[in-house]
Amino acid sequence: MPQILIPATQTAFDCPPDDTIMRAAVRHGLGFPYECNVGSCGNCKFELLEGEIEHLRKDAPGWTERDLQRKRYLGCQAKPLTDCKIKLNLRDHYKSHFVPAKTTGTLSAIEDITHDIREFRFTLAAPKPFLPGQYGLILPTDVHGARAYSMSNVTADGAEWHFQIRRVPNGACTGALFERLSVGQTVELDGPYGMAYLREDAPRDIVLLGGGSGLSPMVSLVRAAIASEKLADRQIHFFYGGRTPRDLFRETLLSVLPGYGSRLHYHPAISMPEENGGWTGKVGFVHDIAKATLGEKLRECEIYFAGPPLMAEAVMKTVVEMKIPPAQVHFDQFF
Ligand SMILES: Cc1cc2nc3c(=O)[nH]c(=O)nc-3n(C[C@H](O)[C@H](O)[C@H](O)COP(=O)(O)OP(=O)(O)OC[C@H]3O[C@@H](n4cnc5c(N)ncnc54)[C@H](O)[C@@H]3O)c2cc1C
Ligand code: FES
Repeated sequence: MPQILIPATQTAFDCPPDDTIMRAAVRHGLGFPYECNVGSCGNCKFELLEGEIEHLRKDAPGWTERDLQRKRYLGCQAKPLTDCKIKLNLRDHYKSHFVPAKTTGTLSAIEDITHDIREFRFTLAAPKPFLPGQYGLILPTDVHGARAYSMSNVTADGAEWHFQIRRVPNGACTGALFERLSVGQTVELDGPYGMAYLREDAPRDIVLLGGGSGLSPMVSLVRAAIASEKLADRQIHFFYGGRTPRDLFRETLLSVLPGYGSRLHYHPAISMPEENGGWTGKVGFVHDIAKATLGEKLRECEIYFAGPPLMAEAVMKTVVEMKIPPAQVHFDQFF
């Protein structure tokens, strides 16, 4: 089995032939930087000093021709063909609370959440706990590469992972899940991964911002925050945006939670009022609605967000403009 050595810190770990360097490092409890896990963000880049690599995703947006010339590879896509020496800075921030593992999940139930978001519930062959807000990788057999999906449930033992997944037109993985996977069938899973998990020690009210495909981690976070004794005196604001009313989930998803309406506040909004279908609620983008609702108070909140790249960009712009300390803001960029 190839051995990976980081000479600067004299750190060495084995990487099985069917794994990637970043995932193997994280499984060994190392703080190997990463974010998306699918070749898009570039956060897991390292320099190859010695050895041979196969790069799984040749068209990875986070990897350029110049990287290849300079022998830089993406850790989440780099499969070692020989022992390797690599250069990168490990950071404690990226060490996993629950070390990720590969397992399989059997689809036990499905439920429609909106017209294009469906919840897929998997029972795991080998239970694996995760922190609320984290994601797992789904690897359907007929899809090239893994896709990241955030869990929506809260679990102590990790026996079940639930994912709320938005169908992407002509999408390879969502096509496989929505069209070809039936209850009783099994897929490969890997995880948990991700840094946008609930900070129970943060002494601040909580703001959750979600749009479209970013619903799932926000649902896990709100469920966990409401259940947490440490967070019992916190106000929780859940902002969720869609283009039209049919993009919004049923309020019962949140109204069943204790504290709904007293300390848990739901702020749905749509961005296309011309197609409102009788909508009388808030109109605009979630970051603007959050700013209008909470004003300067937003700066004193612990903020979690997830959604499509344009929404993430807009939220980050607001964070910078309002000078919200980055340590209070948590997200794993969706691609
Ligand atoms: C951290 C994270 C969490 C996410 N959580 C959710 C969630 O909770 N719910 C949800 O609906 N969506 C989520 N997504 C988005 C999801 O992972 C998919 O991008 C989306 O479902 C489209 O997949 P698709 O295969 O159907 O579409 P496609 O259009 O076929 O694929 C598009 C996506 O897959 C990537 N991709 C393409 N080929 C490969 C390959 N060979 N290897 C790896 N990646 C490849 C592309 O970069 C692109 O991002 C998340 C993404 C990330 C990064
Ligand atoms: S490119 Fe590897 S973690 Fe994003």
